Amino acid sequence: TNGITVAIDGPAAAGKGTVAKAVAAHFGFAHLDTGLLYRAVAAKTLTGMDPEEAARTLAPVDLEDPSLRSPEVAQEASKVAVIPAVRAALVRFQRSFATRAGGAVLDGRDIGTVICPDAPVKLFITASPEVRAQRRFAELSGKGIETSYEDVLEDVRQRDLRDMSRDQAPLKPAEDAKQIDTTEMAIEDAVAAAVALVEAKR
Ligand code: C5P
Repeated sequence: TNGITVAIDGPAAAGKGTVAKAVAAHFGFAHLDTGLLYRAVAAKTLTGMDPEEAARTLAPVDLEDPSLRSPEVAQEASKVAVIPAVRAALVRFQRSFATRAGGAVLDGRDIGTVICPDAPVKLFITASPEVRAQRRFAELSGKGIETSYEDVLEDVRQRDLRDMSRDQAPLKPAEDAKQIDTTEMAIEDAVAAAVALVEAKR
């Protein structure tokens, strides 16, 4: 079987992570949630560390911090993500992950446009802000994180705006990305569409 690079981008809570995990499991590829890198940097800057230093000294163990899922860390992540030196410090790790022999699925905001512009399969997964906030609210509640739908919707909107309007590596579909809108689609159908696309390129 051929390992290839699969690039999956889109706004927060559109279903990227679920699709990425399922595609990786289906083909036996490795999976990297690149949002975790920015969240791990954010967890450090929230304790007062310099953002660039936090990005340069990031270690695998930092990605296991259980607080990375919180809405506060997510907001801070989108703030450190606008800093060019932070993004630059994370490029090499992502590219070497992407080119591992057994195949790799990376999900984030700039995978198809900046990190892996040559990936043979690129997906851009979207959904309405309301549906995304509903999903993220259910997920956070399920994890015992206390929040409200309104707060989650506000968080999603603010991050979308910051992620789409920054100068470096803004959130946008690569020209050759296949767009999948999951607003009214069961996530299994999005997974099936993604699997079919990878199958065709392998
Ligand atoms: O995907 P997730 O919601 O965990 O990402 C958190 C934040 O990290 C995003 O809002 C975005 O600002 C930033 N990010 C990024 N580029 C990526 C992945 C995440 O700028 N490839």
